[in-house]
Parts: sequence; structure tokens; C-alpha cells
Amino acid sequence: MAVDNGRSAAEACSLENYLALPDHTMDDRIAAARRKLGTDVVLLGHHYQRDEVIRFADYTGDSYKLSRIASETEAKYIVFCGVHFMAESADVLAHGDQQVILPDLNAGCSMADMAEIGQVEDCWDALEAQGFTSQGGGGLVPLTYMNSSAAIKAFVGERGGLVCTSSNARGAFEWAFSCGQKILFLPDQHLGRNTAFAMGVPLSEMVVWDPYQINGGVAPARLQAAKVILWKGHCSVHQRFLPEHVDNVRAKHPGIQVIVHPECRWEVCQKADALGSTERIIQVIENAPEGSMFAVGTEIHLVNRLGKRFAPLGKKVITLDDSGCLCTTMYRISPQHLAWALENLIEGNVVNRIRVREDVKHWSRVALDRMLEIRS
Ligand code: 13P
Ligand code: SF4
Repeated sequence: MAVDNGRSAAEACSLENYLALPDHTMDDRIAAARRKLGTDVVLLGHHYQRDEVIRFADYTGDSYKLSRIASETEAKYIVFCGVHFMAESADVLAHGDQQVILPDLNAGCSMADMAEIGQVEDCWDALEAQGFTSQGGGGLVPLTYMNSSAAIKAFVGERGGLVCTSSNARGAFEWAFSCGQKILFLPDQHLGRNTAFAMGVPLSEMVVWDPYQINGGVAPARLQAAKVILWKGHCSVHQRFLPEHVDNVRAKHPGIQVIVHPECRWEVCQKADALGSTERIIQVIENAPEGSMFAVGTEIHLVNRLGKRFAPLGKKVITLDDSGCLCTTMYRISPQHLAWALENLIEGNVVNRIRVREDVKHWSRVALDRMLEIRS
């Protein structure tokens, strides 16, 4: 790579040199690096990425679609513009000689952090002590949302369970109920509650397991009667949407359709016209006739992008709540981080590689493969 100002390639590739530069100066560099790397690299972009980053993605999608692409691509390097659990899943699903890069290692997910493997093991032990078992027909089936660590995915895989995303949660619940009578759902209580309720499980047959309380804070009789045990986790971005936001937007814009991500509270989802993963939200708006209006309850970068994209087509898309709703960890992937990761690759340096431990990989792959068998 040509290096200006007489600096060595190593100096030029240090992250600090990139972070000092404005966003717009990255565009040409990212595009040039992308061209130079050709088919060696595939760039995956989650829908919550900012415009300055997602415009370079080879593929955009929700977490299901991106994990499927990661499992199918032949590219040597998978650069994941998303968050840590997505890059981990890509590493689990990739072939042995492929390498996955997360441009900023600080791009985590606060919901995924709400379930630690040690807490999940303690929960399982406590449930087993109360007579619930996972194996051998009947009993408890563990199911984890994609938004969880690879260690938790492996934990559920080893115990006969699987992973789901917001786009195939219902299929995953049906699969789990075909294997047992009770589901432990990690870590998003809202997705779990919304999915189970839509399948006819009443709220009275769901309990919330609080990892910071003895025996989850749930009385044995309630556990016994429960069909779904929900982990006490949530997305701080989606939990901010409230039922009154739905009422307000309907009052202000008569005829507007409300579509929300199923990580929103049950009370919000009950008032919405439709629920969907990020990919599904986009499809619903794409398929709507001219003149349609939507209030969308999800991350603000996606909503703003949809607003701009569909305005010329005569469709109005606004956020469900004006105070906005930013995923600060998705936002961490900046054009500077992306340029840094790609230009380093040209120099032969793989920075910020995400590597899941081999012993964890096996069972998390089992859980992810079970998920991929369930259509979104
Ligand atoms: P999707 O799979 O719907 O894109 O959701 C991922 C996510 O993290 C939503 O907060
Ligand atoms: Fe995690 Fe919520 Fe951000 Fe999705 S929006 S990545 S669940 S913090």
C-alpha cells in the first residue's frame, strides 16, 4: 500500500491515525481497499449500522440472514459490521480457514451481557435440583436468542436445545415444544414472552428468572406450572418504547401502521399492527402501497434510513418515539474502524479477529445448525 508522509506501513495502519480523521475522508479509502481485496473479503452489515458504514456492505440483513450468508460465503475474510455475538456466530459457522473480523471489539450487546455462562449454569443446576431435566423426551429445553455469547449457545446445544433469532423464534419454540414441555428462554424476556403469547401460552404460564435472586426469585409451585421460563434480560434500546407512544402516534397520524421489533415490551407489541425482525420490517414497508404511513419501533439508524428511502416512493416512515433510540454499540463500528481493518488486511495484518474456542465451537455449531434448519 502506498503510504504518505514518509510513514511506515505499520505506523500508517495504527488505529489512532484513523480515529483522528473525519468520517468523510474514509469513503475513498474504504472503497479503494474494498476493490483491492476483491473476493477475498465479504463485508456483512447489520441494518442498525450507520449509513457511512452500511453503504459499503456486500450484504445487509438481520441476524438470521447474515448468519446464513456467513455459513455460505467462500470469502477468506468475513468483515462483520455488527456486534460481537454476530461475529462470534459467523466464526462458528465459517469454514476452518476463514477468518472473521469485527472492526471495533467494543461493539458488544448489552442484552447479550445480561446472561453470563456461570449464571446460566447455576440456573440450570437449580432447575435440575427441582426435578426438571433436559434429556430423553420431555422436560426442559433450553433455547437462546442469537443475542448471547457463544458459550451460552454451546450450553444449549449440548443440552438438546437451539438458537433462534427474532425472525424464526416461533419455529424454534415449536421445535422446542416438540422435544419437551417446558422452555428456558435466554436472555430476552420480551422476545420470549411475545413469541410464547402469540402461540397461545398465557402470561400466567410464564415466569421470569432473575439470576440475581435465589432460585431465580420464582416459587417452586410457579416454576412447576410454567411452560416458559424467561431469563430476566432485555434490550435497553427497544425497552424504551412504551404503550403510550403507540397511542400518541396513532392520535397524531390517523391511519398510521405501527410495526415494532419483538424485543419491545409485550404491552407495546400488543398495541402494534405488526411485529418483525429488522429484515421483516423492511419487507413490510417495501410491500406496502404508495401512501402508506408507518411508525417503526426499532433502532433509529434503520428507521431514518427507511424514512429517506421510502419518501420518494410516497410512503412515510417515522420513529415510534421522537426521543430516538440509538444502539450505541452498533454505532461503535465507524468508517475509521472499517478503513483500518481493511487497509490492515491489504498489509497482511488480520486485526480484531474473532475466534471462538474450539471446544465451545462444536456445541454452538450444533445449536446454530438446528436454528438454520428452521426457516425465518
Ligand atoms: P434482527 O435479527 O431483527 O436484526 O435483530 C438483531 C438485534 O440485535 C435487534 O436488536
Ligand atoms: Fe443488543 Fe439491543 Fe443493540 Fe440489538 S439493539 S444489538 S439487542 S443492545
